Amino acid sequence: MSGRGFWFGLVLGAGVMGLLGQWGPAAAGKEVGQAPCIEAGLVAEYLHSVIQADRTFYTTDVVERMQMRGIAFAAENWRETSRLPLPAQYLLETGRLVAAGRSGLQYRLISQWAINNKNRPNSDFERAGLTEILLNPDRPYTAVTTDGRTRLFQAIYADKAASQSCVGCHNAHPNSPKKDFKPHDVMGGILLTIPLSH
Ligand code: HEC
Repeated sequence: MSGRGFWFGLVLGAGVMGLLGQWGPAAAGKEVGQAPCIEAGLVAEYLHSVIQADRTFYTTDVVERMQMRGIAFAAENWRETSRLPLPAQYLLETGRLVAAGRSGLQYRLISQWAINNKNRPNSDFERAGLTEILLNPDRPYTAVTTDGRTRLFQAIYADKAASQSCVGCHNAHPNSPKKDFKPHDVMGGILLTIPLSH
């Protein structure tokens, strides 16, 4: 090897090493051409935790707080009156807004003992899930279903009577087909529907 060739090689090598040193770590962090994926069951867990947190906050810090101070009261006919929506209605109404959007995501409350007939189960998956969460209330009942050509991930989480007020109101409601709910009973479920493709 000639002296010039040696120096040329050394400079070229150093240059390449320098470039690799800069680009290498950046390229490794990119995962070229592959978006990271989250498992559908985990997406359902995330959404369920947000929906529940919103409902709990609305129940305790809006409805119960206003009622305790005698400022405003929640009632089923809130639209026609100056009452606040019930927490179940708050969840159902936000679910309607989400369903009207473009994401394809849907969520609602369902029960085989529904006060409102619209909240009754309306598929085999929903009927099976409502039975299953009575036996295993601590884990969601899930399945991949289809709607036309869209594949959906669906999950039903048990909705438990967290307080005496759930039980008292449902047992006393004229349209409730079940009058003997007890605290901690599963009263129905939160149904999440997540499209797997868009
Ligand atoms: C003041 C009365 C009242 C209280 C308190 C109440 N609910 Fe309800 N709940 C209703 C009414 C009325 C509906 C129907 C709402 C609609 O579809 O417009 C409903 C709907 C539901 C549904 C959907 C099925 C159905 O019955 O239509 C579930 C599940 C449910 N409530 C669970 C609960 C739980 C759990 C609690 C306590 C954390 C609770 N509710 C507290 C009145 C009440």
